[in-house]
Amino acid sequence: MRFTQTFMKQPKRFTITAALPYTNGPVHIGHLAGVYIPADIFARYQRMQGADVAFICGSDEHGVAIPMRAKKEGVSPQQIIDKYHGIISKSFEDFGITFDNYSRTSAPIHHETASEFFTTLYKKGAFEEKVTEQLYDEEAKQFLADRFVVGTCPKCGFDESYGDQCENCGTSHNATDLINPKSTLSGTPPVLKETKHWFLPLDQYEGFLKKWILESHEKDWKSNVYGQCKSWIDDGLRPRAVTRDLDWGIPVPVEGAEGKVLYVWFDAPIGYISSTKEWAARTGKDWEPYWKEEDTQLLHFIGKDNIVFHCIIFPSMLKAEGSFILPENVPANEFLNLEGSKISTSKNWAVWLHEYLEEFPNQQDVLRYVLTANAPETKDNDFTWADFQARNNNELVAIFGNFINRVTVLTHKYYEGAVPKPADFSEEDLQTLKEMRAYPEVIASSIERYRFREAQMRLMDLARLGNKYLADEEPWKTIKVDAERTQTIMYVALQISAALAVLSEPFLPFTSEALKQQLEFANRSDSKLSWNQVSEEKALLPEGHVIGKNALLFSKIEEEQITQQLEKLQASKEANEMTNSKIEPQKETISFDDFTKMDLRVGTILEAEKMPKTKKLLVLKVDTGIDVRTIVSGIAESFTPEEVIGKQVTVLVNLAPRKLRGVESQGMILMTETAEGTLVFVNPDETSMKNGSTIN
Ligand code: MF3
Ligand code: ZN
Repeated sequence: MRFTQTFMKQPKRFTITAALPYTNGPVHIGHLAGVYIPADIFARYQRMQGADVAFICGSDEHGVAIPMRAKKEGVSPQQIIDKYHGIISKSFEDFGITFDNYSRTSAPIHHETASEFFTTLYKKGAFEEKVTEQLYDEEAKQFLADRFVVGTCPKCGFDESYGDQCENCGTSHNATDLINPKSTLSGTPPVLKETKHWFLPLDQYEGFLKKWILESHEKDWKSNVYGQCKSWIDDGLRPRAVTRDLDWGIPVPVEGAEGKVLYVWFDAPIGYISSTKEWAARTGKDWEPYWKEEDTQLLHFIGKDNIVFHCIIFPSMLKAEGSFILPENVPANEFLNLEGSKISTSKNWAVWLHEYLEEFPNQQDVLRYVLTANAPETKDNDFTWADFQARNNNELVAIFGNFINRVTVLTHKYYEGAVPKPADFSEEDLQTLKEMRAYPEVIASSIERYRFREAQMRLMDLARLGNKYLADEEPWKTIKVDAERTQTIMYVALQISAALAVLSEPFLPFTSEALKQQLEFANRSDSKLSWNQVSEEKALLPEGHVIGKNALLFSKIEEEQITQQLEKLQASKEANEMTNSKIEPQKETISFDDFTKMDLRVGTILEAEKMPKTKKLLVLKVDTGIDVRTIVSGIAESFTPEEVIGKQVTVLVNLAPRKLRGVESQGMILMTETAEGTLVFVNPDETSMKNGSTIN
């Protein structure tokens, strides 16, 4: 009996979803490590257990990210989604991600499914229809939501929060909650303008969410996931608009909603359902049991920035609809960094999967292995090329590859490739076989608890067991003196090789396949070995079975290849610095009167302290010569409070006061920025000036 069966009954079927990637760029190692590899390991493993699995994904092609990218590349949104849908789906295939269906949210079946879902909720009266004031960019003549607007997060103070979600703390909010919002289209502060939208009243789902998450999933959900949910629910939930004033997306299917589309986070998760429908239609199955039967286990594999949508909003939608099951678990991962810095598509700070394969052809499993070994399961983790090389050379080559190579070479050398007949088993032989037979259960128990790093570590322990066995028994010595003993040793070692071929499949599918071919699994009487057969006493490779010729499973990665990768990253860093230091074009001409309206004075900073819970803000007391006033300044990343006290600065004193995190700022200090992004004061002069002196 497997570990988890003691507390969880084996479900009849699994619906495993992996977050739909936005088609606004290719996929990188962060995506693979956080979402797609763990989901794939889980799906492959369950299939090997004989489970009925629907592993579902597709491209997320709506939302603001798409037209933004289109604008940047100077092409249409349709061209963008076609291009990246192509690149992304190919990357997944190349890396052996075994989706049963990979769809896209621009597909007609998705438009239908999402519209229908909205209509059902609409008819049930599940939405609040409200005219409210929303952020509007007068220059771009457009309402601002989601990624069209950034500002300070009302929860954590991060000042690059998007309109719908803060990337720093993960909170999801309304765009109007942002402090100091700024349009990403024109850079100007937006105004408020009335518009009608449909809101999902999340406040009404609080009771349901408390009972479902807080009361029933404290034990089985990962603590990062549970903790985030608890904090949001405890903070109180508010109605969320599920429609947008945009021209890219699924039209809102009700009257009076012309020019409005569904919020991308309303339509995208429904994409899981439409993709399942597409799969069922293609394979002659019924999609409904996968979404509606209680004996189905629904699992969402996602990154941590998606938790609120998969644990709060989508379940509330499913609950409102009424006929759907809820996810059993949402095993979200944290983030993977690259060489110490946050992976960024726009800054080209990433290892792109399609590029990796050009540079490391046929080495998918090496990346899969390293990303699982470093999976950001409980905290953010770092990918480094040095670690990549070390894990390949010291683990895959030196442990796994070396064991298989020794076994296959010796089998050919001593027995022309035929599995020898064992004689009497020694204590050590029996113990080793017993240990080997325990591995399916050991690895399974980790996988079923979503501990993929641990699971893969156990797999490597099996290879270590094999290596240790050979080192202890030394068949290359016994061959000279004891033919029978050698046969037994090689027989045991061959069984371990076969066990590795089977159990490595979820983690290293290409290696597993190559190894099965080397061992000529196809020539066994039952050519497909299941996961649990490894635990049985019956030989995995019976005596007399002939294995194929040996070939190396892994090869060493040389220093030079690593240096090349590091140079490539360095180049992208330099390119970024170049773009950041671009000289901005001159602004529109202003009149002399406009200029004289600005009252610029010399002032001295008297006091400085950090604004609590913010990264960038300092609260300053400045002597302007006119008075001593408070100015809130976004310079905390370039200066400590101590450094600025006593500094003479240029102050715009007649700027309209405004509140920043509850503190009124009465003026602005003039700054410039270096190419590296450090701020520098625009000083009046080295010598000290009289405070209050005018600048003109
Ligand atoms: N496209 C989103 C992202 O990359 C994920 C969407 S997941 C789904 O963050 F549930 F909406 F499909
Ligand atoms: Zn935040």
